[in-house]
Amino acid sequence: MNKTDLLSEGKTKKIYNTKNNFEVIIHYKDNITSFNGKKNELISYKGVLNNEINSCIFKFLNSCGIKTHFIKKINKREQLCHKLKMIPIEFVVRNFICGSLSKRLKIKEGTKITNQITEIFYKNDKLKDPFINDNHAVFLGISSYNELNIIYKIINNINNYLNKYFYKKNIILADFKVEFGKNYKNEIFLSDEISPDTCRLWDKITMKKLDKDPFRKNMINKKEILNIYTEVLERLNKE
Ligand code: TMP
Repeated sequence: MNKTDLLSEGKTKKIYNTKNNFEVIIHYKDNITSFNGKKNELISYKGVLNNEINSCIFKFLNSCGIKTHFIKKINKREQLCHKLKMIPIEFVVRNFICGSLSKRLKIKEGTKITNQITEIFYKNDKLKDPFINDNHAVFLGISSYNELNIIYKIINNINNYLNKYFYKKNIILADFKVEFGKNYKNEIFLSDEISPDTCRLWDKITMKKLDKDPFRKNMINKKEILNIYTEVLERLNKE
């Protein structure tokens, strides 16, 4: 499972080919970004924490029967994963009003959503990842109605499993973003990452933010971010 050539590099991860045509190695960098990469800083050790947190969450989802790209963690910064062709859509799942939805609908952050809202965004840096709907996605040729319906069902399961998983760790899953890809047989797999970078996580009792949001809002320094991510990892590792 040695790395061969660099396949792609994103804001927080590098993806390497391996000698096996069906597997890649994902390397977690120390970058933390927001506002589509406009704010981009290095926090030493963050990649190690994110690799560990993601490995915990994807291992859990695998154990629930969700098909994910994750095969195994191979070292502090890297995972072995199934090689997929990514669908360029960000699926945002919301259990509480927050962030961009709060701004769009002018509803107070923290308001409970009783019917789980799923939104889709076209992953396109030049267009700044616009909010789209299923018709747009099909028109753009980036997905089909059938594929989207399959993904929405998977997402409902993921949300149910993760809500319970985090709640046991005294964490409320306010919202999160997921991405999917297809393998050589066109089977759909959960991919990318689920971590404090891509979720809003709140302490069940104090409502303290256990995610990237305070960084986005310039409310905390790098050391505090590391402390928060470490706290999340410690909670996930606790039985
Ligand atoms: P939003 O409220 O800013 O739209 O974000 C919703 C959730 O999706 C939040 O948990 C952060 C996550 N997210 C990402 O991980 N990457 C992104 O590019 C965006 C826009 C949101």
